[in-house]
Amino acid sequence: MGAEKWVDIGPEAEFRVRPLTAVRAGGVALAIVCRDGEISAISGACNHVGGPLGEGRLEGDYVVCPWHHWKFHRQTGEGEPGFEADRVPSYATKIEGGRLHVDVNPRTPRHKTPHAPHPLARAVRREPGAVRVAGLSTTVMDRAHPRFSGSEELLGHALEHARTALGADTRLLRLGELSFGACEGYYSKSARACTWPCSITQMDPKDQLDQVYEALVHWADVVLVATPIRWGAASSLYYRMAERMNCIQNQVTTHDRVLIRDKVAGFIIVGGQDNVQAVAGQQLGFFAELGFLFPQFPYVAHSRGWTAEDMERNVEVLRTSRELREGAAALVERCTSLAARLLASGQAPARVARGGRKAHALASAEPSRGAAPES
Ligand code: FES
Repeated sequence: MGAEKWVDIGPEAEFRVRPLTAVRAGGVALAIVCRDGEISAISGACNHVGGPLGEGRLEGDYVVCPWHHWKFHRQTGEGEPGFEADRVPSYATKIEGGRLHVDVNPRTPRHKTPHAPHPLARAVRREPGAVRVAGLSTTVMDRAHPRFSGSEELLGHALEHARTALGADTRLLRLGELSFGACEGYYSKSARACTWPCSITQMDPKDQLDQVYEALVHWADVVLVATPIRWGAASSLYYRMAERMNCIQNQVTTHDRVLIRDKVAGFIIVGGQDNVQAVAGQQLGFFAELGFLFPQFPYVAHSRGWTAEDMERNVEVLRTSRELREGAAALVERCTSLAARLLASGQAPARVARGGRKAHALASAEPSRGAAPES
């Protein structure tokens, strides 16, 4: 592994007060481990996406990455049992005069076992065909005992209109039928810990939000989001989904990569009580940050107002209102019309200047604050 290159990294006592210490020596990120009085050193940069191993935790003989919990042996750098070949460099250590020295030329090399990319990670390429409209129903209900949903009713009508009158391909996704967990806040560890595809989707084969990612990023030209108003806000399922969309927007921050291009969003908002404009405002702001475009008049909504507590009457209005159905149909016409114009105008520019960060510089344009693999 080349000539030895010993670096004094400080008093040995400092490395004995905790099981794991992150240091940088000779330009190399290291994780210094102390277990049962024995000191060892492995790389401080995880094989996965460069998580800071020295800031993780020690579990038995394994250093656990703080980002997505990959494990590496504290002495050999090998992956956990079954994944031994996926290894980070290990380093020789010695103590002289009460000080800890590390040979920063690795004793064993890094080896990354090739992992098949997640299907969502493929390049975003619009395949030929009719305009595609994905409907997202975010209402919460017991699907084994369904009830009438005004927002889903109007969404269904809009999709049928898109299919039968506009010749569009359509797809309906009901969030309530998908099993998916809440965002676990990888972004709060580091922007680079929040990955595309979503870290949860990559690690949990049962996660079904992949269907929504597939529709939004790869399939649809138009996304129609339907939500009820619950206590003045969109549904809880909408927010659970929205938080999981962080990984789409974060790609702009970390890789200057805009996943949503030339796609159109529209909204159907139905509440027994009021606050339509606040719900619309949140949705417009959020979908704009994802990269969606909007037609003129990008939402249709209905509410009988604060004092309308007679839900049976609200349901009756939704069931019978021709005006609301026509409004939903007109919304999808506005959306597909804009999508068709965008498709006809050809390839979008390769870059969106400061997309997602506007006035501020992109993190991807700055030197990485993460611990990039050094060998
Ligand atoms: S597990 Fe280490 S960066 Fe993902």
